[in-house]
Amino acid sequence: MAERLFFSVPLNRISQLELIRLQAQLGKTLGGQARVVPAANFHLTLAFLGNVTQQQKAALLSRWAALEVPEMTLELNRLAYWPRAGVLCATTNHTPLALAELAYALRRDAAEHGLHQSHAPFRPHVTLFRGVNRLEGTLPEIKPVPMTLQEVDLMVSLFERKGVEYHSIRRWKQEGGH
Ligand code: 2AM
Repeated sequence: MAERLFFSVPLNRISQLELIRLQAQLGKTLGGQARVVPAANFHLTLAFLGNVTQQQKAALLSRWAALEVPEMTLELNRLAYWPRAGVLCATTNHTPLALAELAYALRRDAAEHGLHQSHAPFRPHVTLFRGVNRLEGTLPEIKPVPMTLQEVDLMVSLFERKGVEYHSIRRWKQEGGH
């Protein structure tokens, strides 16, 4: 059976709380159509892999057995609305090089092994709302939300009755990290 997989970076509790606060502020201006992303689903996608068979997953895990998690921090310092996807997210105007290199290496590997090919440039972001059909007015400036990269996860996306759920199926920690 194939699973929908992606590589992502989790957010620590402090960053989550700041994003929850932002959601509360924005919710009032977005109106009823927008769906709030639950904090348990916050993540920063590095590479979306699409549907992956068990055989492809085993090969993927073996290729990335020694994935090294770079040391870096990132500031989610602006909001963005992407109408085609209907998402409102927290993003950054400064992508750390080490993060972009890791994302592109994972995306290249996926494309070379018959998995999803990502054509759009890598734009680190954390989705806060989905189903946003329109936005009135301009997005407010935000207080930057710091994120420290300590882990990378291979996640599976599951469609449950309550909505989509993401679970980590393999976690890489920074060398020397806890
Ligand atoms: P998002 O990061 O913008 O929310 C699991 O579905 C994750 O993979 C989500 O975080 C989602 O985007 C991203 N994703 C889903 N479908 C995608 C696609 N076709 N291309 C790129 N990323 C996708």
